[in-house]
Amino acid sequence: MKNALLIGGTGFLGSALACRLASADFALTLPTRRRERAKHLTVLPTASVIEADVHDPATLARLMAGQDLVVSLVGILKGDFQRTHVELPGKIARAAAAANVPRLIHISALAAAPDAPSEYLQSKAAGEAAVKAAYPQATIFQPSVIFGRGDSFLTLFASLLELAPLVPLACPEARFQPVWVEDVVSAIVASLDHPESQGQTYPLCGPRVYTLRELVAYTGWLSGHPRPIIGLPLALSYLQAFVMEWLPNGPMTRDNVRSMQVPNVCPQGCTLPFGLAATPLEAVAPGYLAKQ
Ligand SMILES: NC(=O)c1ccc[n+]([C@@H]2O[C@H](COP(=O)([O-])OP(=O)(O)OC[C@H]3O[C@@H](n4cnc5c(N)ncnc54)[C@H](OP(=O)(O)O)[C@@H]3O)[C@@H](O)[C@H]2O)c1
Repeated sequence: MKNALLIGGTGFLGSALACRLASADFALTLPTRRRERAKHLTVLPTASVIEADVHDPATLARLMAGQDLVVSLVGILKGDFQRTHVELPGKIARAAAAANVPRLIHISALAAAPDAPSEYLQSKAAGEAAVKAAYPQATIFQPSVIFGRGDSFLTLFASLLELAPLVPLACPEARFQPVWVEDVVSAIVASLDHPESQGQTYPLCGPRVYTLRELVAYTGWLSGHPRPIIGLPLALSYLQAFVMEWLPNGPMTRDNVRSMQVPNVCPQGCTLPFGLAATPLEAVAPGYLAKQ
């Protein structure tokens, strides 16, 4: 049995990865800020969910001991991007290198670039650089927006559509190439059998490009709440996001609007590496969004 440490492994993608690795006979360590929130993973027979401050270098050093694989998955859509997307991946990579961990995988985001229009995408690029500086052989994945049961993307649209009689939609023409969570997991797991993936960066996308308007309309149709969609111009998109920033769980920020100014689609039309076939959205979304 091999050992894997998943940092950020209690979230949407991390939970799917944890299930797959547990069934592939990995013993998992899953640090979390609140064990209560990661209860769903405590049932995995080979997983140990522990409360730990992964920002603390001494804690990280302790967690790295004896690991065969470390996956760095922590990500946020708002908050302290510098600490979470740049400093933390750098600390993880330095700790993994110091402990001679043989494989490090880091999850970034599609369209991450130092000159990207949003702090989210800029910080993701800086995080990649921090990882590479400390651990050049790390494998980096850059997923487009990820869908699947428990996502905070189509599921969020579905709950908003249920409540709203019509949808004033920011950035309706923003483009995405959504990728299924299980395909992202498959790419991560497949990379372990591809030594040439060390030191490489892979975009991960689904088979089709959609506008945001198309995705919201499809979700409305599937969930039984089709609503008129009113596309907002850019200035009103920023205004809507500004108002939402004041709500406790506001679904959008101005930084998210800035992220949507660049297409979230794969360069050169690629989808998945290692010969994997990308699963269409239409084959999966009805399973968790369709009206019963
Ligand atoms: N979901 C997408 O559509 C998408 C698209 C592109 C890239 N990504 C990237 O994929 C990765 C996983 O995304 P996800 O959707 O699974 O995210 P998620 O469901 O929000 O999970 C986030 C994880 O990060 C941990 N975390 C959050 N803030 C933290 C902090 N300040 N300190 C320590 N841990 C913290 C959480 O742990 P606890 O709450 O248990 O402590 C949780 O395990 C992220 O890097 C994200 O940027 C996601």
